[in-house]
Amino acid sequence: MILGIESSCDESALALFSGDEGIKGQWVASQIALHREYGGVVPDLASREHLTNFPELLERMKGTAGAARFSEIAVTLGPGLAGCLGIGVALARSLHLSTGAPVVGINHLRAHAFSPFIPVHQEEPGAFMERIRDHLPHIGLLVSGGNTLLFHIGRSFDLKVLGGTVDDAAGEALDKGAKLLGLPYPGGPHVEAEARGGDPASFDFPRAFSGKRDLKFSFSGLKTSLRYRLEGMEKGEVAERRADLCAAYQEAVIDALVSRTVHALKGFPCVSLGLSGGVANNRRLRDRMNALATGEKKPLLVALPEHCGDNAAMIAFAAYTDRRGRVPAGRPGFRINPSWEAGIEGAEEP
Ligand code: KG4
Repeated sequence: MILGIESSCDESALALFSGDEGIKGQWVASQIALHREYGGVVPDLASREHLTNFPELLERMKGTAGAARFSEIAVTLGPGLAGCLGIGVALARSLHLSTGAPVVGINHLRAHAFSPFIPVHQEEPGAFMERIRDHLPHIGLLVSGGNTLLFHIGRSFDLKVLGGTVDDAAGEALDKGAKLLGLPYPGGPHVEAEARGGDPASFDFPRAFSGKRDLKFSFSGLKTSLRYRLEGMEKGEVAERRADLCAAYQEAVIDALVSRTVHALKGFPCVSLGLSGGVANNRRLRDRMNALATGEKKPLLVALPEHCGDNAAMIAFAAYTDRRGRVPAGRPGFRINPSWEAGIEGAEEP
Protein backbone atom coordinates (compact mmCIF):
# COMPACT_ATOMS: atom_id res chain seq x y z
CA MET A 1 0.00 0.00 0.00
CA ILE A 2 1.39 3.40 -1.01
CA LEU A 3 0.30 6.70 0.51
CA GLY A 4 0.34 9.49 -2.10
CA ILE A 5 0.71 13.15 -1.10
CA GLU A 6 0.13 16.04 -3.53
CA SER A 7 0.51 19.73 -2.65
CA SER A 8 2.20 21.35 -5.65
CA CYS A 9 -0.40 24.08 -6.19
CA ASP A 10 -3.91 24.68 -4.86
CA GLU A 11 -5.10 21.14 -4.19
CA SER A 12 -4.21 19.37 -0.93
CA ALA A 13 -4.59 15.67 -1.64
CA LEU A 14 -3.96 12.24 -0.13
CA ALA A 15 -4.60 8.81 -1.68
CA LEU A 16 -4.00 5.17 -0.84
CA PHE A 17 -3.06 2.84 -3.66
CA SER A 18 -2.57 -0.89 -3.41
CA GLY A 19 -0.88 -2.87 -6.13
CA ASP A 20 -3.39 -5.71 -5.71
CA GLU A 21 -6.56 -3.72 -5.19
CA GLY A 22 -6.01 -0.35 -6.89
CA ILE A 23 -7.08 2.94 -5.37
CA LYS A 24 -8.35 2.35 -1.83
CA GLY A 25 -9.34 5.95 -1.24
CA GLN A 26 -8.62 9.52 -2.21
CA TRP A 27 -9.12 12.71 -0.23
CA VAL A 28 -8.87 16.15 -1.81
CA ALA A 29 -9.36 19.63 -0.41
CA SER A 30 -9.68 22.12 -3.23
CA GLN A 31 -8.84 25.76 -2.61
CA ILE A 32 -10.71 27.13 -5.62
CA ALA A 33 -13.18 29.12 -3.50
CA LEU A 34 -10.33 30.79 -1.61
CA HIS A 35 -8.45 31.92 -4.73
CA ARG A 36 -11.53 32.83 -6.80
CA GLU A 37 -11.76 36.37 -5.44
CA TYR A 38 -8.17 37.05 -6.60
CA GLY A 39 -8.78 35.57 -10.09
CA GLY A 40 -5.89 33.10 -9.72
CA VAL A 41 -3.80 31.13 -7.24
CA VAL A 42 -2.07 33.24 -4.55
CA PRO A 43 1.03 31.17 -3.61
CA ASP A 44 1.31 32.34 -0.01
CA LEU A 45 -2.37 31.68 0.72
CA ALA A 46 -2.11 28.28 -0.99
CA SER A 47 0.73 27.07 1.26
CA ARG A 48 -1.01 28.31 4.42
CA GLU A 49 -4.17 26.50 3.33
CA HIS A 50 -2.24 23.22 2.89
CA LEU A 51 -1.20 23.50 6.55
CA THR A 52 -4.85 23.61 7.61
CA ASN A 53 -6.09 21.03 5.11
CA PHE A 54 -3.67 18.13 5.58
CA PRO A 55 -4.44 17.36 9.26
CA GLU A 56 -8.15 17.25 8.33
CA LEU A 57 -7.49 14.99 5.34
CA LEU A 58 -5.41 12.65 7.54
CA GLU A 59 -8.32 12.47 10.01
CA ARG A 60 -10.70 11.56 7.18
CA MET A 61 -8.27 8.96 5.83
CA LYS A 62 -7.94 7.29 9.25
CA GLY A 63 -11.42 5.75 8.99
CA THR A 64 -10.47 3.76 5.87
CA ALA A 65 -9.66 0.08 6.10
CA GLY A 66 -5.91 -0.47 5.76
CA ALA A 67 -5.09 3.24 6.18
CA ALA A 68 -2.53 2.45 8.87
CA ARG A 69 -0.70 -0.16 6.79
CA PHE A 70 0.95 1.87 4.07
CA SER A 71 4.47 0.64 3.42
CA GLU A 72 5.68 3.56 1.32
CA ILE A 73 5.02 7.29 1.08
CA ALA A 74 5.11 8.99 -2.35
CA VAL A 75 5.23 12.78 -2.45
CA THR A 76 5.38 15.38 -5.23
CA LEU A 77 8.84 17.00 -5.38
CA GLY A 78 8.06 19.32 -8.29
CA PRO A 79 7.30 21.19 -10.44
CA GLY A 80 5.06 23.48 -8.44
CA LEU A 81 5.02 26.34 -5.97
CA ALA A 82 8.02 26.04 -3.63
CA GLY A 83 6.12 26.87 -0.41
CA CYS A 84 3.38 24.40 -1.30
CA LEU A 85 5.75 21.57 -2.27
CA GLY A 86 7.65 22.05 0.99
CA ILE A 87 4.54 21.35 3.07
CA GLY A 88 3.87 18.05 1.28
CA VAL A 89 7.50 16.97 1.74
CA ALA A 90 7.49 17.99 5.43
CA LEU A 91 4.32 15.91 5.91
CA ALA A 92 5.93 12.93 4.14
CA ARG A 93 9.03 13.17 6.32
CA SER A 94 7.05 13.42 9.55
CA LEU A 95 4.90 10.43 8.59
CA HIS A 96 8.15 8.58 7.89
CA LEU A 97 9.37 9.40 11.40
CA SER A 98 6.16 8.12 12.99
CA THR A 99 5.63 5.01 10.82
CA GLY A 100 9.07 4.11 9.46
CA ALA A 101 7.63 3.89 5.90
CA PRO A 102 10.22 5.01 3.33
CA VAL A 103 9.61 8.14 1.25
CA VAL A 104 10.01 8.55 -2.52
CA GLY A 105 9.79 11.78 -4.46
CA ILE A 106 7.71 11.91 -7.64
CA ASN A 107 7.78 14.27 -10.58
CA HIS A 108 4.28 15.77 -10.86
CA LEU A 109 4.41 15.86 -14.68
CA ARG A 110 5.43 12.19 -14.97
CA ALA A 111 2.53 11.38 -12.65
CA HIS A 112 0.08 13.26 -14.92
CA ALA A 113 1.65 11.53 -17.93
CA PHE A 114 0.97 8.07 -16.46
CA SER A 115 -2.49 8.97 -15.05
CA PRO A 116 -4.40 7.73 -18.16
CA PHE A 117 -3.04 4.25 -17.36
CA ILE A 118 -4.79 4.09 -13.95
CA PRO A 119 -7.95 2.53 -15.52
CA VAL A 120 -5.72 -0.09 -17.21
CA HIS A 121 -4.64 -1.16 -13.72
CA GLN A 122 -8.22 -1.03 -12.41
CA GLU A 123 -9.38 -3.39 -15.17
CA GLU A 124 -6.67 -5.98 -14.65
CA PRO A 125 -4.44 -5.42 -11.57
CA GLY A 126 -2.58 -8.71 -12.07
CA ALA A 127 -1.40 -8.17 -15.61
CA PHE A 128 -1.50 -4.44 -15.92
CA MET A 129 2.24 -3.93 -16.49
CA GLU A 130 1.97 -6.10 -19.63
CA ARG A 131 -1.17 -4.17 -20.64
CA ILE A 132 0.68 -0.87 -20.16
CA ARG A 133 3.58 -2.19 -22.28
CA ASP A 134 0.99 -3.13 -24.95
CA HIS A 135 0.24 0.62 -25.13
CA LEU A 136 3.90 1.71 -25.49
CA PRO A 137 5.37 3.64 -27.21
CA HIS A 138 2.80 6.26 -26.37
CA ILE A 139 2.30 9.93 -27.24
CA GLY A 140 0.57 11.97 -24.55
CA LEU A 141 -0.86 15.46 -24.33
CA LEU A 142 -0.80 16.97 -20.85
CA VAL A 143 -2.92 20.08 -20.55
CA SER A 144 -3.46 21.82 -17.23
CA GLY A 145 -3.53 25.26 -15.66
CA GLY A 146 0.26 25.30 -15.34
CA ASN A 147 1.53 23.02 -18.12
CA THR A 148 1.00 22.17 -21.78
CA LEU A 149 3.25 19.34 -22.89
CA LEU A 150 3.46 16.80 -25.66
CA PHE A 151 5.57 13.84 -24.61
CA HIS A 152 6.62 10.40 -25.73
CA ILE A 153 6.86 7.36 -23.43
CA GLY A 154 9.13 4.65 -24.83
CA ARG A 155 8.99 0.89 -24.20
CA SER A 156 11.29 1.20 -21.19
CA PHE A 157 9.19 4.01 -19.65
CA ASP A 158 11.67 6.63 -20.85
CA LEU A 159 9.71 9.87 -21.00
CA LYS A 160 10.82 12.51 -23.46
CA VAL A 161 9.24 15.94 -23.81
CA LEU A 162 8.49 16.62 -27.49
CA GLY A 163 7.17 20.13 -27.10
CA GLY A 164 5.71 22.62 -24.67
CA THR A 165 4.39 26.12 -24.42
CA VAL A 166 6.64 29.14 -24.89
CA ASP A 167 4.33 31.32 -22.75
CA ASP A 168 0.92 30.50 -21.18
CA ALA A 169 -0.40 26.98 -20.57
CA ALA A 170 -3.66 25.98 -22.31
CA GLY A 171 -5.65 26.11 -19.06
CA GLU A 172 -4.12 29.48 -18.21
CA ALA A 173 -5.15 30.78 -21.65
CA LEU A 174 -8.73 29.61 -21.04
CA ASP A 175 -8.73 31.10 -17.53
CA LYS A 176 -7.34 34.45 -18.70
CA GLY A 177 -9.72 34.58 -21.66
CA ALA A 178 -12.62 33.78 -19.32
CA LYS A 179 -11.58 36.64 -17.05
CA LEU A 180 -11.64 39.07 -20.00
CA LEU A 181 -15.11 37.74 -20.83
CA GLY A 182 -16.33 38.36 -17.29
CA LEU A 183 -16.57 34.69 -16.33
CA PRO A 184 -15.55 33.33 -12.86
CA TYR A 185 -12.25 31.60 -12.00
CA PRO A 186 -11.21 28.96 -12.99
CA GLY A 187 -12.57 29.90 -16.38
CA GLY A 188 -12.01 26.70 -18.42
CA PRO A 189 -15.26 24.94 -17.42
CA HIS A 190 -17.25 28.22 -17.79
CA VAL A 191 -15.85 28.84 -21.28
CA GLU A 192 -16.81 25.27 -22.17
CA ALA A 193 -20.36 25.70 -20.85
CA GLU A 194 -20.87 29.01 -22.71
CA ALA A 195 -19.28 27.61 -25.87
CA ARG A 196 -21.96 24.93 -26.13
CA GLY A 197 -24.43 27.57 -27.32
CA GLY A 198 -22.00 29.28 -29.71
CA ASP A 199 -20.50 28.96 -33.16
CA PRO A 200 -16.74 28.18 -33.23
CA ALA A 201 -16.43 29.81 -36.68
CA SER A 202 -18.08 33.10 -35.66
CA PHE A 203 -14.80 34.87 -34.79
CA ASP A 204 -11.38 34.40 -36.32
CA PHE A 205 -8.72 34.03 -33.60
CA PRO A 206 -5.03 33.35 -34.35
CA ARG A 207 -3.40 29.90 -34.15
CA ALA A 208 0.28 30.34 -33.27
CA PHE A 209 2.85 28.23 -35.15
CA SER A 210 0.14 26.94 -37.50
CA GLY A 211 1.68 25.43 -40.61
CA LYS A 212 5.03 25.06 -38.84
CA ARG A 213 6.39 21.65 -37.93
CA ASP A 214 7.54 22.89 -34.50
CA LEU A 215 5.98 21.08 -31.59
CA LYS A 216 5.52 24.35 -29.70
CA PHE A 217 2.50 26.08 -28.26
CA SER A 218 1.90 29.78 -27.71
CA PHE A 219 -1.30 31.23 -26.32
CA SER A 220 -0.39 34.79 -25.30
CA GLY A 221 -1.13 36.21 -28.79
CA LEU A 222 -4.55 34.55 -28.71
CA LYS A 223 -5.36 36.16 -25.37
CA THR A 224 -4.22 39.60 -26.65
CA SER A 225 -6.31 39.13 -29.77
CA LEU A 226 -9.38 38.46 -27.61
CA ARG A 227 -8.62 41.56 -25.56
CA TYR A 228 -8.45 43.83 -28.64
CA ARG A 229 -11.59 42.23 -30.04
CA LEU A 230 -13.48 42.92 -26.80
CA GLU A 231 -12.18 46.50 -26.63
CA GLY A 232 -13.73 47.11 -30.04
CA MET A 233 -17.16 45.89 -28.94
CA GLU A 234 -19.96 47.53 -26.94
CA LYS A 235 -20.66 45.99 -23.51
CA GLY A 236 -24.11 44.81 -24.59
CA GLU A 237 -22.66 43.23 -27.72
CA VAL A 238 -20.09 41.29 -25.66
CA ALA A 239 -22.88 39.90 -23.47
CA GLU A 240 -24.98 39.06 -26.51
CA ARG A 241 -22.14 37.32 -28.34
CA ARG A 242 -20.49 35.69 -25.32
CA ALA A 243 -21.36 32.16 -26.43
CA ASP A 244 -19.85 32.76 -29.90
CA LEU A 245 -16.76 34.40 -28.40
CA CYS A 246 -16.27 31.46 -26.02
CA ALA A 247 -16.79 28.88 -28.77
CA ALA A 248 -14.33 30.57 -31.14
CA TYR A 249 -11.73 31.19 -28.42
CA GLN A 250 -11.97 27.61 -27.09
CA GLU A 251 -11.72 26.27 -30.64
CA ALA A 252 -8.50 28.24 -31.23
CA VAL A 253 -6.95 26.67 -28.09
CA ILE A 254 -8.12 23.17 -29.06
CA ASP A 255 -7.00 23.57 -32.70
CA ALA A 256 -3.50 24.36 -31.46
CA LEU A 257 -3.48 21.31 -29.15
CA VAL A 258 -4.80 18.90 -31.77
CA SER A 259 -2.69 20.18 -34.68
CA ARG A 260 0.55 19.82 -32.66
CA THR A 261 -0.51 16.31 -31.67
CA VAL A 262 -0.98 15.50 -35.36
CA HIS A 263 2.60 16.71 -36.00
CA ALA A 264 3.91 14.63 -33.09
CA LEU A 265 2.23 11.54 -34.55
CA LYS A 266 4.01 12.14 -37.85
CA GLY A 267 7.43 12.40 -36.22
CA PHE A 268 7.40 9.75 -33.49
CA PRO A 269 6.28 6.13 -33.39
CA CYS A 270 3.45 5.24 -31.05
CA VAL A 271 0.74 2.63 -30.57
CA SER A 272 -1.52 4.71 -28.30
CA LEU A 273 -2.43 8.30 -27.51
CA GLY A 274 -3.05 9.85 -24.10
CA LEU A 275 -4.79 12.89 -22.65
CA SER A 276 -4.32 14.16 -19.09
CA GLY A 277 -4.44 17.28 -16.87
CA GLY A 278 -7.33 19.54 -15.85
CA VAL A 279 -8.17 20.71 -19.40
CA ALA A 280 -8.65 17.03 -20.38
CA ASN A 281 -12.08 17.44 -18.69
CA ASN A 282 -13.12 19.48 -21.72
CA ARG A 283 -15.67 17.54 -23.78
CA ARG A 284 -14.82 19.26 -27.06
CA LEU A 285 -11.10 18.50 -26.61
CA ARG A 286 -11.90 14.85 -25.78
CA ASP A 287 -14.10 14.57 -28.88
CA ARG A 288 -11.45 16.10 -31.15
CA MET A 289 -8.72 13.84 -29.70
CA ASN A 290 -11.02 10.84 -30.03
CA ALA A 291 -11.66 11.65 -33.69
CA LEU A 292 -7.91 11.96 -34.25
CA ALA A 293 -7.18 8.64 -32.54
CA THR A 294 -9.96 6.87 -34.43
CA GLY A 295 -8.59 8.21 -37.73
CA GLU A 296 -5.14 6.94 -36.77
CA LYS A 297 -6.59 3.60 -35.58
CA LYS A 298 -4.93 3.99 -32.19
CA PRO A 299 -6.58 3.80 -28.78
CA LEU A 300 -6.93 7.06 -26.85
CA LEU A 301 -6.38 6.72 -23.10
CA VAL A 302 -7.96 9.60 -21.19
CA ALA A 303 -7.41 10.17 -17.47
CA LEU A 304 -10.58 9.65 -15.41
CA PRO A 305 -12.22 12.96 -14.38
CA GLU A 306 -11.02 12.52 -10.75
CA HIS A 307 -7.43 12.13 -12.03
CA CYS A 308 -7.42 15.07 -14.48
CA GLY A 309 -6.97 17.84 -11.94
CA ASP A 310 -4.16 17.66 -9.39
CA ASN A 311 -4.63 14.55 -7.23
CA ALA A 312 -2.63 12.18 -5.05
CA ALA A 313 -3.83 8.93 -6.64
CA MET A 314 -1.64 9.62 -9.67
CA ILE A 315 1.34 10.29 -7.36
CA ALA A 316 0.94 6.93 -5.58
CA PHE A 317 0.25 5.17 -8.91
CA ALA A 318 3.39 6.68 -10.47
CA ALA A 319 5.45 5.49 -7.48
CA TYR A 320 4.16 1.95 -8.05
CA THR A 321 4.36 1.84 -11.84
CA ASP A 322 7.08 4.18 -13.00
CA ARG A 323 10.32 2.97 -11.42
CA ARG A 324 12.35 5.51 -13.45
CA GLY A 325 10.44 8.44 -12.00
CA ARG A 326 11.15 7.65 -8.33
CA VAL A 327 13.68 9.56 -6.24
CA PRO A 328 14.13 7.79 -2.87
CA ALA A 329 14.58 10.10 0.12
CA GLY A 330 18.24 10.14 1.11
CA ARG A 331 19.43 10.31 -2.51
CA PRO A 332 21.06 13.62 -3.49
CA GLY A 333 18.23 14.29 -5.97
CA PHE A 334 15.58 14.21 -3.25
CA ARG A 335 14.79 17.89 -2.82
CA ILE A 336 11.85 20.01 -3.85
CA ASN A 337 12.29 21.28 -7.37
CA PRO A 338 9.81 24.03 -8.35
CA SER A 339 10.84 23.95 -12.04
CA TRP A 340 11.40 20.30 -12.86
CA GLU A 341 10.24 20.41 -16.53
CA ALA A 342 13.79 20.52 -17.82
CA GLY A 343 14.84 17.42 -15.90
CA ILE A 344 11.91 15.23 -16.79
CA GLU A 345 13.88 13.18 -19.31
CA GLY A 346 15.09 10.23 -17.23
CA ALA A 347 13.84 12.05 -14.13
CA GLU A 348 16.17 10.03 -11.91
CA GLU A 349 18.18 13.02 -10.71
CA PRO A 350 16.22 16.30 -10.74
O1 KG4 B 1 -4.69 20.02 -13.64
P1 KG4 B 1 -5.17 21.28 -13.02
O2 KG4 B 1 -5.77 21.21 -11.64
O3 KG4 B 1 -4.05 22.32 -13.18
C1 KG4 B 1 -3.32 23.06 -12.37
O4 KG4 B 1 -3.73 23.35 -11.21
O5 KG4 B 1 -2.29 23.43 -12.95
O6 KG4 B 1 -6.24 21.95 -13.99
C2 KG4 B 1 -6.80 23.21 -13.79
C3 KG4 B 1 -7.04 23.83 -15.15
C4 KG4 B 1 -7.66 25.21 -15.09
O7 KG4 B 1 -6.98 26.05 -15.99
C5 KG4 B 1 -9.10 24.97 -15.53
O8 KG4 B 1 -9.70 26.09 -16.14
C6 KG4 B 1 -8.93 23.85 -16.51
O9 KG4 B 1 -7.93 23.01 -15.93
N1 KG4 B 1 -10.16 23.08 -16.73
C7 KG4 B 1 -10.86 23.08 -17.88
C8 KG4 B 1 -12.00 22.26 -17.67
N2 KG4 B 1 -11.95 21.80 -16.39
C9 KG4 B 1 -10.82 22.32 -15.82
N3 KG4 B 1 -10.60 23.66 -19.06
C10 KG4 B 1 -11.49 23.46 -20.05
N4 KG4 B 1 -12.60 22.72 -19.92
C11 KG4 B 1 -12.90 22.11 -18.76
N5 KG4 B 1 -14.02 21.38 -18.65
